[in-house]
This record gives sequence, C-alpha cells and structure tokens, in this order.
Amino acid sequence: MNAPDGLAPTLPGFDVASVRAQFPVLAQRVHDDRRLAYLDNAATTQKPEAVLQALDHYYRHDNSNVHRGVHALAARATKGYEDARARIARFAGADVAGTVFTRGTTEAINLVAYSYLLPRLEAGDEILVTEMEHHANIVPWQILAERTGARVVVAPVRDDGGLDLDAWRERLTSRTRMAAFVHVSNTLGTINPVAEMVAAARERGVPTCIDGAQAVAHMPLDFGALGADFYAFSAHKLYGPTGFGVLLARPELLAGMPPWQGGGDMIETVSFDGTTFAEPPARFEAGTPHIAGAIGLAAAIDWLDATGVAAAGAHEQTLLRDAMDAIRDIPGLRVLGTAPDKAAIIAFTIDGTHPSDISSLLDMQGVAVRIGHHCTMPLHSRFGISGSARASFAVYNDGEDVTQFAAALTKAREMLR
Ligand code: ALA
Repeated sequence: MNAPDGLAPTLPGFDVASVRAQFPVLAQRVHDDRRLAYLDNAATTQKPEAVLQALDHYYRHDNSNVHRGVHALAARATKGYEDARARIARFAGADVAGTVFTRGTTEAINLVAYSYLLPRLEAGDEILVTEMEHHANIVPWQILAERTGARVVVAPVRDDGGLDLDAWRERLTSRTRMAAFVHVSNTLGTINPVAEMVAAARERGVPTCIDGAQAVAHMPLDFGALGADFYAFSAHKLYGPTGFGVLLARPELLAGMPPWQGGGDMIETVSFDGTTFAEPPARFEAGTPHIAGAIGLAAAIDWLDATGVAAAGAHEQTLLRDAMDAIRDIPGLRVLGTAPDKAAIIAFTIDGTHPSDISSLLDMQGVAVRIGHHCTMPLHSRFGISGSARASFAVYNDGEDVTQFAAALTKAREMLR
C-alpha cells in the first residue's frame, strides 16, 4: 500500500504505547478477559484523558448558558465556547467567522443544502455527487432535487475504489449548482484528490461541499488553502464528544445565507412585526448550543496537535499496510477499496460467510469492527453486495491490534467454513 503524498510510509519514534495509555477505555478486557482491539474508529473514536478532563472540568466548574449572562459562570462558559471556535478555526485553517457549530457532519451538510442551495435551485439544475458518498451526502441533495425538479448526478467509482476523475469532470456542466464529495470514503478508505476537484469546480464556477468526517483526524487540513466553499466534520471522529460538529465556510457565502432554524441566539431583534438576524456564525446556531461539545472538541484538537496529525496519519498508514499484509492470504477475502491513496479503513467480505457472523466471531475474540452497509448502500450495490465488515484504525491502534485482528479473522473464517 503506497502512502499518500505527504505521509511517510514508516514512522520511526512514534510512541504508540504512550498514546494508548491516554485512552482509559482501551485498557478494559472484554468477553472472558480478552484484550480489546478497538477497530471501529470510522464509526467513532475513543476519547483521551485530556478530553474527559475538559468535559468534567466544564460541567464541574463553568457550566452555564452562553451569550446570555454576565455572571462569572456565564462569562467563563461564553469564553470557553468562543475560545473553542477560535481554536477549531486555527486547526482547520479557517476563518473564525466561517466556523459554524452544528450537531455533526450530517447537520452541517443539511445546513448547506437548505440555507445555501435550496434558494438557488431550479428545475433542471444538477447536484454532482460521487458513488462513494455516505448517505448524509446523498439524501439531503435528493430531498432538494425532489422539491425543485433538480437532478442528482452521480460520478462513478472505479473497480479499485478510486473515483473516476475523468467521469467526474465530464459531469461538471453548466447546470451543476453544487459539487458535493467526500474527502475520505468511510467504506473504501479512498482519499479523494480534493484540491484538484475544488480547483476544477472553481474553474467552472461550481461551489463545493466536502464531507471531511473521515479525514480531519488523519491528515492535516488547511481549509483556506484548499479553496473549498464548505467543509463539514464531526467531533466524535476526532477524539471529541458525540453530538457536535463543524461547518467551515467562506464567510462571504455565510453572510448572504438566510437562517435555516429559528430560535434564541441567532437573532438581532425580534418583534411581532418581524425579526432581524445575527451575523454569522451565530445566525446558524439557534437555541442553546452543545457548549461542552465545543470545549471538548477544542481539547481533542489540542491533544491531537500535540501528538501531531500528520504523524498520526503516517502511523495509521503503517497499520494499514501491516494489516493488509496479514490478512491478504485468507481464502475468499475480498477487500473493498484498494486505491493507491487510501486511509486506514478496510471493508471486506469473505466468500461464503455473512459479515454479521464474521463480526460476532471477531467480537468474541475481543476485536470490535463494524458491519452492514456503513451508510453507503449505493456503493455496496455498485460492488454487488449488500454489506461488509469494516476494520478502521486510529492513532492509538498498535501492532498487537493488527496481529489480534488477523488471527481472529483467520479463526473466524475457519469456524465458518
Ligand atoms: N458514518 C459512520 C461510519 O461510517 C457512523 O461508521
């Protein structure tokens, strides 16, 4: 497996033992005292002590509502929330004014769909997606298309799981009103050439919306340099809390977008004659926000930056290579996605077995993987299957996890023969 550009193929000196030691959940034993090999990181990552402490500290000492009071706790909560925004923006190379807090990637994409695209969409317009999208980057656009008479156009995936870039370019037409695509596929692991895709879309005046859920914890992001219009990600896949996410956007686009949810905190003035709205990003954050979520994500980012996101990605590449080497001779194994630029995600089937049986037998041996369609049903259909098992790696996984996974999978396959 080649390392993608910018990632070293091996990582001498990366101290995975000290990284692991910071994740209390990983120390537990499961099922008859088995060592836990947690390989379900594309679904959600575990949380380091630093994040647990930040959440605990917030609720023990600072808990209050934000932007609504001047008492000591309100001031500390508001500062924590807005400092978190600045920290997250800096991590992602984005403007603070273009960093909107949401419930997650899905809500961020829906915000773009309803607030940015819907008012601009007409019958006959096109929204370009790819065959490898998560349902969160398909269904919102389909709903808009049904409402307006627009069309969702799909760019195909090659047999190796790479995007057919020529076909994608051909589908960027004068009718395309949005190009929405995933940075890293949650099923194939494919790393799309997003900079090239953004440049191609910009050349044709087409706005871009990138699903970065599986990318941000595994490779550096510079949203400003990338030049995309919108980029979405979730905290819980970045070692932070669930229920919190971020939409990065060009501030000038946000400035022209109407609110999509009404309520407290997103207004300037309200009367029964009419309401005026706050400037972005507050305009898009109606109601009491997930304050601890923001503070927890900022702590996760501090932690990941100290570890090094590029180093994390390079370490995961060694795990991917070792895991592929360790399982490749298992009879009947089929890996979905073997494109050269691939993150440490291995979705697979084994001939004559059902993914849920494989997953149960792995679980009994302490190995946690995901099964099912991974919210990519069209992609599974493209490969002629309804589901797969998926092992996905994070910064705290180590060689022992790889060995345990390969041995457990070999045994599971033998038991199911
Ligand atoms: N989208 C997450 C996954 O791929 C939940 O597992």
